[in-house]
Amino acid sequence: MRVHVADHPLITHKLTVLRNRLTPSPVFRALTEELVTLLAYEATRGVRVEPVHIETPVTGTTGVTLSEPRPLVVPILRAGLGMLEGMVRLMPTAEVGFLGMVRDEETLQPTTYAERLPEDLSDRQCFVLDPMLATGGSLGTAIEFLFARGAVDVTAICVLAAPEGIAAVEKLTEGRDVTLVLGAIDERLNENGYIVPGLGDAGDRLYGTV
Ligand code: PRP
Ligand code: URA
Repeated sequence: MRVHVADHPLITHKLTVLRNRLTPSPVFRALTEELVTLLAYEATRGVRVEPVHIETPVTGTTGVTLSEPRPLVVPILRAGLGMLEGMVRLMPTAEVGFLGMVRDEETLQPTTYAERLPEDLSDRQCFVLDPMLATGGSLGTAIEFLFARGAVDVTAICVLAAPEGIAAVEKLTEGRDVTLVLGAIDERLNENGYIVPGLGDAGDRLYGTV
């Protein structure tokens, strides 16, 4: 598994505002989108392209276009939805599938409550969006699901990750082609399974408590 941690002052600056408990939801949503576009730039470095011949006003030349099948972007509901616009802004022709997952706050085990993905993901490059990689239960389960459907490689974009979650995803997906692109790796998880220092509950901060 490859792990890429973004190292850019603008990313760290935006992350600092996200972490601040005084940042209101509308600002939190806007910043999450901006941050994802910056992370997506790195995450799509390996996106498959093929040569295409075009005519400029001056002459013919060869450029590239995204290969078929098109990449699939999969936000994990609910919080991952806050990352979708920022991702498709960079890659507007990608297809989008959805996974709804929630972790039990007592056991920290994830449950999948919704799935809207192509049946066959053979030969697909998949990009999973979830702001928080805490124990790794949710992301690990989502990635396993995509490989079981035939995905060839999976890149996950997360705003924050805990070392425990990275280790858990690595173990779960051993031998698979997996890349994590992260805004930052924080110190640890606390006794409630929250990332420390973290930013709190990403879903609640994006959309309010349910
Ligand atoms: C959050 C977050 C991840 C998960 C991370 O979602 O968006 O999906 O927790 O925790 P884990 O790594 O320990 O599995 P949550 O379950 O709170 O659902 P929500 O997006 O609907 O708020
Ligand atoms: N889910 C969140 O939203 N935040 C955390 O810190 C851990 C899991």
